[in-house]
Amino acid sequence: MAAQNLQSVPAELSRGESQEQSQEAAQREADGQANFDRVMAEDSRIEPRDWMPDAYRKTLLRQISQHAHSEIIGMQPEANWISRAPSLKRKAILMAKVQDEAGHGLYLYSAAETLGQNRDKMTADLIAGKARYSSIFNYPALTWADMGAIGWLVDGAAICNQVPLCRASYGPYGRAMVRICKEESFHQRQGFEILLELSHGTPEQKQMAQDAVNRWYAPALMMFGPPDDDSPNSRQSMAWNIKRFSNDELRSRFVGMMVEQVRVLGLTLPDSEIRFNEETRKWEHGPLDWNEFKEVLAGRGPCNAQRLERRREAHDDGAWVREAAAAYAAKRQAKQSMTTKEYAA
Ligand SMILES: [Fe+2]
Ligand SMILES: [Fe+2]
Repeated sequence: MAAQNLQSVPAELSRGESQEQSQEAAQREADGQANFDRVMAEDSRIEPRDWMPDAYRKTLLRQISQHAHSEIIGMQPEANWISRAPSLKRKAILMAKVQDEAGHGLYLYSAAETLGQNRDKMTADLIAGKARYSSIFNYPALTWADMGAIGWLVDGAAICNQVPLCRASYGPYGRAMVRICKEESFHQRQGFEILLELSHGTPEQKQMAQDAVNRWYAPALMMFGPPDDDSPNSRQSMAWNIKRFSNDELRSRFVGMMVEQVRVLGLTLPDSEIRFNEETRKWEHGPLDWNEFKEVLAGRGPCNAQRLERRREAHDDGAWVREAAAAYAAKRQAKQSMTTKEYAA
């Protein structure tokens, strides 16, 4: 009957209805855009059910999923040292730190899911080598002192990058970042403390700490991304309040922080060109090898293949956990709907 009724609707009327519908859709979009513009101007927050421009959603998805992948891949260089930590206390601290990074990945995958991306798809893209993650995690952790240098420099750079993102315009991302940053500052202190102890140890231990700082310094500076004049998307991301400061600005602040802290450590930064520019009121550093950065990002760093291979193995090894969780969820759901039916009866 319904089909017959539809067929009998005069052509002009059905055209009229669809025009009305498209007018409504256009109005909804205009209202959504107006709300979005107001939120950006007021520096307030967009939530998952709010209208947002497609490009904003896409950029955020790329940023959040890359960040999530970095947390998960970033577990590997340190996990490699859990069994070789020099004491039970160090082992327990390192395990807690690596576990925190897994948690960071989970918060961020959840934030990305609120934008409509499927978690399995994100994982599939990562293990297929299609998704990017921070270039820093493709460098090897050669000695125990690298646990110190990673915590101090890499988590330190992450803090510089991420503290401003606690005020990101997308609600779930900003809120995830608040918790992540609290844990990152514990990570940085534990790295600092490892280096401090080594630098006050034997001459060999001090040298090991210095070598680790020498190896991780430049890759840590490159974590902030390419120089501003080679970072075409930054301006738009800053207008959307999903990036608060430019790459060079953050890098300069980071150098300033490290200059102070390295003195307390009794070590040095491997960069003779660090200086504070009185005119610009900014810290400057020596040149970085951006070709190396591009090579690592393109998958040709020292450990890229190994990191992805390990991630693939871990995903395969975890299949039984996913199956068990799905079976348990189905069982619970069946039980729940049974109880509802009984209740209704
Ligand atoms: Fe983290
Ligand atoms: Fe961390």
